[in-house]
Amino acid sequence: MKTNIKNYPDLKVAQKRDTNKTVFVNANFDIVSSLKPIVEGDKYFIHTLGCQANVRDEETMRGLLSKVGYISTDNVSEADLIIINTCAVRENAEDKVYGEIGNLKKYRRENKDKIIALCGCMVEQPEILNYLRTTFPEVNLYFGTHEIPNLLDYIFELKKGETRIIDIKSKPGEVIENLPSSRLNKYKAYVNIMYGCNKFCTYCIVPYTRGKERSRKFNDVLLEVRDLKKAGYQEVTLLGQNVNAYGKDLDEGYDFADLLEAVAQIGIPRVRFTTSHPWDFSSKMIDVISKYDNIMKCIHLPVQSGSSEILKRMGRRYDREKYLTLVKEMREKIPNLSLSTDIIVGFPNESEENFNDTLTLCDEVKYENAYTFIYSPRRGTPAAKMEDNVSSKTKSLRFRELVKRLEKYMEIDANNYIGKTCKVLVDGESKTDQNMLSGYSESNKLVHFKGDKNLIGKIVTVKILESHTYSLIGELVNE
Ligand code: SAH
Ligand code: SF4
Ligand code: F3S
Repeated sequence: MKTNIKNYPDLKVAQKRDTNKTVFVNANFDIVSSLKPIVEGDKYFIHTLGCQANVRDEETMRGLLSKVGYISTDNVSEADLIIINTCAVRENAEDKVYGEIGNLKKYRRENKDKIIALCGCMVEQPEILNYLRTTFPEVNLYFGTHEIPNLLDYIFELKKGETRIIDIKSKPGEVIENLPSSRLNKYKAYVNIMYGCNKFCTYCIVPYTRGKERSRKFNDVLLEVRDLKKAGYQEVTLLGQNVNAYGKDLDEGYDFADLLEAVAQIGIPRVRFTTSHPWDFSSKMIDVISKYDNIMKCIHLPVQSGSSEILKRMGRRYDREKYLTLVKEMREKIPNLSLSTDIIVGFPNESEENFNDTLTLCDEVKYENAYTFIYSPRRGTPAAKMEDNVSSKTKSLRFRELVKRLEKYMEIDANNYIGKTCKVLVDGESKTDQNMLSGYSESNKLVHFKGDKNLIGKIVTVKILESHTYSLIGELVNE
């Protein structure tokens, strides 16, 4: 099949990091006037997997598509353009995509004018891309995480007769400020403060798929948050793979604590941030979090393992003791702090003793929330080449044991809410019961309660009556 390969990914190139300062460029929208008459009124469908970085990318793609008159649809069968925005962090994220393309390819067989596109982190891996393009000839557009600004150009070229386009450049990346965005939520917004990752934890594919760490300018972030406040947003979440690295690639002299403080001062009711690497979490940060009421007292602090030996092999740059010292300082200085984490079970050659260190760390920290994963080898990362003598059966048993241990503390924490009131930002109707509303407390607990739909988008007070491990049930308090 004739394919226009503009750029092909290369993990060796993706791995390179230079010390150059971040480059800022502008996107070009010259194509809009030529493409609009061709696609205006056409429908598009996007499915996003993965993390908030991908969600934010989806919002950019929506912004671009609406510039030329595309209309969004939730019904994939009527879409003229289908985009799957993929994630590569674990094998099961990739398996979902294989299944999904299998189901979609019939649409293009029925109608050759349709465009099926794959983007996101998965296509940044050369071997996966080789497999995809030979197995799924129906997919006629592949573009990488750095190529989103060119989306409209690719569509134009396909409409003009190109049969298949691949454009995935494993470049370090830059920052582009003039991209449109069509936000998916009217009350809660993600705000990128930086892109990429330089940490290269040995198990992780993200630094290869997302390029080098690069920060947005201090004032550009503040401008966006001020606009969101004017538009009535109740909550912003500042996003980065490691927000604590903010500003290191710029000459502005601001760090993440400065940025967080300036964002809090804008006065949006709720400010959150994710993710924080324990390695460079400063005392200055802890002081800023405790100083401002509108910075939510929630910190997502991925530990990955409780064993210093495993942490060393993961390249995490801290050990068990340093992590626990940081947690102690946080709990002392931030009353009612809610701590959450990510943990990987079954890293190569994880011994019973190493795993037990993870269990006892959970006993010490008593996380309010946790995400657990079984280690998934990612081709091209150092850990994928490590010897592994742990059977998958042992990994599954450990995984279940860890979840049980974490749930014990989550249940105790949830029980503590009973009889107390909490402030809830109402998201909408509950997914499990249409007669209930649901939203998140300041401490990020999912709360269900009965109430009128005009409360959606507002912050209300709810008295908690019942607790479950992953949610709370309460009643509205009339103020
Ligand atoms: N930048 C963030 C998030 C990275 S991905 C951070 O550093 O916390 C989210 C989580 O996925 C990680 O915290 C880790 O727990 C998990 N993860 C990453 N690579 C993985 C792999 N190869 N196998 C299993 N879990 C993985
Ligand atoms: Fe992956 Fe580590 Fe970067 Fe997080 S900090 S994205 S786990 S390499
Ligand atoms: Fe997945 Fe890429 Fe995010 S690998 S977790 S979508 S950065």
